[in-house]
Amino acid sequence: MTDQVTVREVGLRDGLQLIQQIVPANNKLDWCRDQVAAGFTEIEVTSFVPPSVIPQFADAAEVLEGAKAIAGLRAAVLVLNLKGALRAFDQGAEKIVFVLSASAAHNLANVRRPIKDSVTAFRELVAERDRRGLKGTVEISGAIATAFGCTIQGEVSERQVFELVEQLAEAGADELNIADTVGYADPAQVRRIYGQVAGMVGKIPLAAHFHDTRGMGLANVVMALEAGVRRFDASLGGLGGCPFAPGASGNIATEDCVYLLESMGLATGIDFNRLLTLREKLDAWLPDEQLYGRLSKARPSKIFDPVTIL
Ligand code: COA
Ligand code: ZN
Repeated sequence: MTDQVTVREVGLRDGLQLIQQIVPANNKLDWCRDQVAAGFTEIEVTSFVPPSVIPQFADAAEVLEGAKAIAGLRAAVLVLNLKGALRAFDQGAEKIVFVLSASAAHNLANVRRPIKDSVTAFRELVAERDRRGLKGTVEISGAIATAFGCTIQGEVSERQVFELVEQLAEAGADELNIADTVGYADPAQVRRIYGQVAGMVGKIPLAAHFHDTRGMGLANVVMALEAGVRRFDASLGGLGGCPFAPGASGNIATEDCVYLLESMGLATGIDFNRLLTLREKLDAWLPDEQLYGRLSKARPSKIFDPVTIL
């Protein structure tokens, strides 16, 4: 049987949070629809942060509502505190990705609180989900940012990452996402950390979130695959970056990641040509943004033989 891999689009959240131009909600929803037509089943559609902090997401409720109406899409949202989680529950989010950082300095810069308070907020989020009778309906992902290093603090101890994995797993995470927020990870480190984490979490699925700031993104994907990871975040055109992590830049490009996986014989369920057509629209929607990724320019090779044909 062909191995299945899920590529989760995060361009609408990680991608848009760093750019100045506000993308209208109807373009965001067109983006979601095209992505689903290309075979994506999960998109991180927005972030429930205060609009005063990131104005791009002032339309979070509208975008989530529109995304939920798209058949075949699991609409995920990002939250960083309980207030954001309550907004997300009230709006009927289908999956909530809660982010905290393994770097104490980044957690303070990003969410203005110590890591242990973020862990407490995660526990409260799970309890609130269960209290609302949504266990089994709303999936909660625990995302550990700056797990491979931090532009503010520098080194982040692997022990800290493992402790957070344990705490989030014990608190009831349905998924654990280990994130290289600033593109510090190298393949050997990825093999070491995912190898260890895979042995700790039992049946909880692992996801990976890589930024390509130093050109290591796809090499890291391959290493995470070898460690058993089957869920990858990626951003169309390689947009992305945390506004509260100095020097952060884009995620691995979705189109390059899908090309890599399909070339290796892994089924993503994504129609590559439709994805490239959507990528061209992004150029039109974001004329002032520098977009990345190789495949939009080079196009697939003559011998590319994707596993997925829609
Ligand atoms: N959505 C809307 N409003 C929110 C909110 C949310 N998620 N979280 C807090 N607020 C409001 C509070 O209600 C309060 O409003 P009030 O002054 O009218 O009473 C105000 O914001 C301050 O609340 P507080 O809990 O003290 O928040 P804070 O100032 O400590 O900020 C965060 C915490 C998480 C909201 C803030 O640090 C943040 O938005 N960071 C953004 C991080 C981010 O998006 N990073 C990129 C992705 S990793
Ligand atoms: Zn990111």
